Amino acid sequence: MIQLPGKTAVGISPGKLIITGEHAVVYGQPAIAIPFPLVKVTAQIEAYTKGIWLESKFYEGPISKVPEKLLGIAACIKETLKKLENPQAELLIRIDSTIPLGRGLGSSAAIASALVKALFNYFGYNWKDQELMELVHLAEVFAHGNPSGIDMNAVTNSNPIIFQKKQPVKTLQVGGSFHFVIADTGRIGDTHAAVGSIKEKFDQNSRETYQSLLQLGSITRTSEIALQKGDIKSLGNAMNSAQIELQRLGVSDQGIDQLVQASMSLGAIGAKLTGAGRGGCIIALAENTHQATMIADSLFTKFNCTTWQHAIHKSN
Ligand code: MEV
Repeated sequence: MIQLPGKTAVGISPGKLIITGEHAVVYGQPAIAIPFPLVKVTAQIEAYTKGIWLESKFYEGPISKVPEKLLGIAACIKETLKKLENPQAELLIRIDSTIPLGRGLGSSAAIASALVKALFNYFGYNWKDQELMELVHLAEVFAHGNPSGIDMNAVTNSNPIIFQKKQPVKTLQVGGSFHFVIADTGRIGDTHAAVGSIKEKFDQNSRETYQSLLQLGSITRTSEIALQKGDIKSLGNAMNSAQIELQRLGVSDQGIDQLVQASMSLGAIGAKLTGAGRGGCIIALAENTHQATMIADSLFTKFNCTTWQHAIHKSN
């Protein structure tokens, strides 16, 4: 049995942004995601004397009484403790998150990942990536039903990734600087429902739906090359094409379209929803930092929405 060191331990996980390929990735197509460290989850663990006590913005109390939406997190904690051969451990677990919930920024994967890392650290366990993934996946299944795995891979990676189901995750070598603006519609999207709505569409009209999903896969391949070459225009065009397919699939909505159109009118090179859609955030590509700041400020002024600016640069 691993010994309890009797100290506090921390696990941190960033959010994530999907550049292109969301939804299609569930159907085996590739997608590109990057970690988004401007928002993050911090989990902190210390010894306790009355079972496992959770402290977070959404819930405070014993793990045995968590609300339904935290059942995946509870299962993930129990399974991690089992793995650590300490199923009876008594712990105080604090979760602090700056990732807004249900906005396509990977909050559920980041919470699970930060928690598992904190538990591993607490018990001094030297984990392998695969072990972390298996435990986070457990929580993701509760949260999303049929997750492709892109979210958990993006929040546990420090580089842009290209992800395709049943394939090894690839790190994407970026050939230049890309400046993104992220804007939040302020509405919570339900990933489970959005993924389900496409499944329903697929069952009703498989040919047309499959065509859109294939098209999204091919857009991701174009995006991959654009990122590798540092070609901003080509990535912007790919993002715009992706948004058209996501609209066809029915996962964009008025609020998202409004932010996308406003970003384009302000000079963005491309803009689309990011994550599952039907609420949540958009991601727009700007020419440079100066333009990104102008777009972010203007969106904030016009829509009173939260915005972030995030850039990725040429890989070493
Ligand atoms: C959610 O961030 C991305 C989706 O493609 C769902 C998934 O891949 O599990 C919509």
